[in-house]
Amino acid sequence: MPSPFYITTPIYYVNARPHLGHAYTTICADVINRFHTMITGDTFFLTGTDEHGDKIMRAARKENMTPRAYVDRISALFRDLWPQLNISNDHFIRTTDPGHCAVVQTVLQKIYDQGDIYFSEYEGKYCFGCERFYTDRELVDGKCPDHQTEPETIKESNYFFKMGQYQQWLLDHIRQHPDMIRPERYKNEVLAFLREPLDDLCISRPKSRIKWGITLPFDHDYVTYVWFDALLNYVSALDYPDGPRFKQFWPVAQHIVAKDILKPHGIYWPIMLKAAGLPIYQHLNVHGYWNVDQGKMSKSLGNVVEPLELKTIYGLDAFRYFLMREMVFGLDANFNEEALVQRINSDLANDLGNLFSRVVTMAHKYFSGIVPESDPAIEQELALSMDAKCARTIDTYCLEMDRFAFHKALAAVWELINQMNKIIDVTAPWELAKNKGCRPRLQTVIYNLLEGLRVISGLIHPVMPDTAATMQKHLGFQPGQPFFKMETIRKWKLLAAGTQLPKSTTLFPRVAVKADAAQDSAPDGGKTLHPPLKDEVALDDFARIDLRVATVLSAEPIPRAKKLLKLSVDVGEPAPRTVVAGIAGAYQPDELVGKQVVVVANLKPAKLMGVLSQGMLLAAGTENETVVLAPERPMPPGSAIK
Ligand code: MSP
Repeated sequence: MPSPFYITTPIYYVNARPHLGHAYTTICADVINRFHTMITGDTFFLTGTDEHGDKIMRAARKENMTPRAYVDRISALFRDLWPQLNISNDHFIRTTDPGHCAVVQTVLQKIYDQGDIYFSEYEGKYCFGCERFYTDRELVDGKCPDHQTEPETIKESNYFFKMGQYQQWLLDHIRQHPDMIRPERYKNEVLAFLREPLDDLCISRPKSRIKWGITLPFDHDYVTYVWFDALLNYVSALDYPDGPRFKQFWPVAQHIVAKDILKPHGIYWPIMLKAAGLPIYQHLNVHGYWNVDQGKMSKSLGNVVEPLELKTIYGLDAFRYFLMREMVFGLDANFNEEALVQRINSDLANDLGNLFSRVVTMAHKYFSGIVPESDPAIEQELALSMDAKCARTIDTYCLEMDRFAFHKALAAVWELINQMNKIIDVTAPWELAKNKGCRPRLQTVIYNLLEGLRVISGLIHPVMPDTAATMQKHLGFQPGQPFFKMETIRKWKLLAAGTQLPKSTTLFPRVAVKADAAQDSAPDGGKTLHPPLKDEVALDDFARIDLRVATVLSAEPIPRAKKLLKLSVDVGEPAPRTVVAGIAGAYQPDELVGKQVVVVANLKPAKLMGVLSQGMLLAAGTENETVVLAPERPMPPGSAIK
């Protein structure tokens, strides 16, 4: 029996709107959850919001709202965002849920009763931003390293959790479970923390200072410290202590967090569990930080990346793919829209999209869309070994997914895609089609390529669920007949000869930032000699594209976008339009002013690097140069290209 699987994200503070960082962690959890669903079926995926504490109370006050109304509003932003990113969580927990509050009180009482919590007066330096006391050693130039503010000295009586007495136990536990915290660098960081004596943890706040929290069951003048409240969400969501879910899923618990909250998850949480008499989680999976333009993402710098905006512009699956492929899980990564476009155009449009449309188009062209029969003798003769290639890819993929190395799992799939593109180049089906005697070879090649696509559609499902479903539909599988179980994906020759395939479709349109229309017309960007197998376009379809002559009125660079220029163009309308063009490498802005160009005037407007582009400029390009297209003689702005 495969073991069940339980994955959690951090519960996010409701003092800010969801951004790219939250989306990344939650998409990681979704990907790993979908992967395990392919293997076991019995999975539980938890996310939610962290709603108590001073930070939240102050954010509510700033908005002139009660804490309750405020947390309801921001929590809903998170809850409503996740379905839009295709997040498949089973539950959404809020720390204000009555069931959660009851669990926190039960655990606190238990630990208090066994003598692990004591009351004492404390004077210390308190950072209100972090909601915690700092020791002098932890401050940098006397300031909080996170908030760069001087902490206030406050004196108060509080309850303390005897963490220090569990220090040796935790060290031993981590050593006995070397992959409990992974990747290894974070385990080493936790071990480094544990080299210094652990202070006891202050776990209360007096109600005279903070009221927005869970009341201590043994002293009603105090609320509990946010971390003690928040961490327990991972068990309260499973109906600890008696719920069947708790019994099934807690023994296999895995958390995903970023490095910012390593200490509470790597130290406080296992010690809390130990003190409460609960088994320790199986794995803490820690990822790095997304930076923007090499710096921290922050509201004050105005560089906060909005996940929904990226989804709207580039499509959800492309966005999910980029996040999973670009970041090495565990290390920091830099977010940059140009890199996203580059990945879409090369990995998705060129490699996967092209392979898919070439193969399905050939199946239609040579076999009227009916899956042909494969001949095992010819498979051998041609040394296709697609079954072995797919089996190897599946093995590597599963190994890497299991250890959260998403980028490596995807790289393995892309290696298969590249091998399949090579098979097309080497076997040249268009040549086989010319010779009647080569028909069995043609059948065998196309069948094996279709089967390879089926395997690929299964493997990309966790990262790109919509694209995987589209691919399977076009490979002749009925809706509701999902082939997303690993044991099914592993089967070879599942596609039945004789199946009628629907017409091909474009999986990923190229994103036009480089104004390289001519280059784009070759299926692979003109770099290798692929035959022109893009779908034919009917004259009616072509006529829907509104090409117009325009005069450039002004041009300027776009900050942080090396290749882009922002143009204002006269298209013969009452007001000029803004068009973003990827020609900064080929033209100085001044050279363009007064020039006539050709624009696609009815292209759906799209935001590029924060600028709304209301059209696309046409240009001819090779790998080395780009020139804009222009009418042969000056024409009035707005003249139609016929
Ligand atoms: N409420 C606590 C967590 C309690 S869990 C018991 C908290 N909330 S948070 O809103 O600040 O979320 C922090 C988490 O958001 C990070 O650990 C990470 O998962 C995600 N990220 C926030 N910014 C991020 C980046 N810039 N990059 C990657 N992930 C980031 O801490």
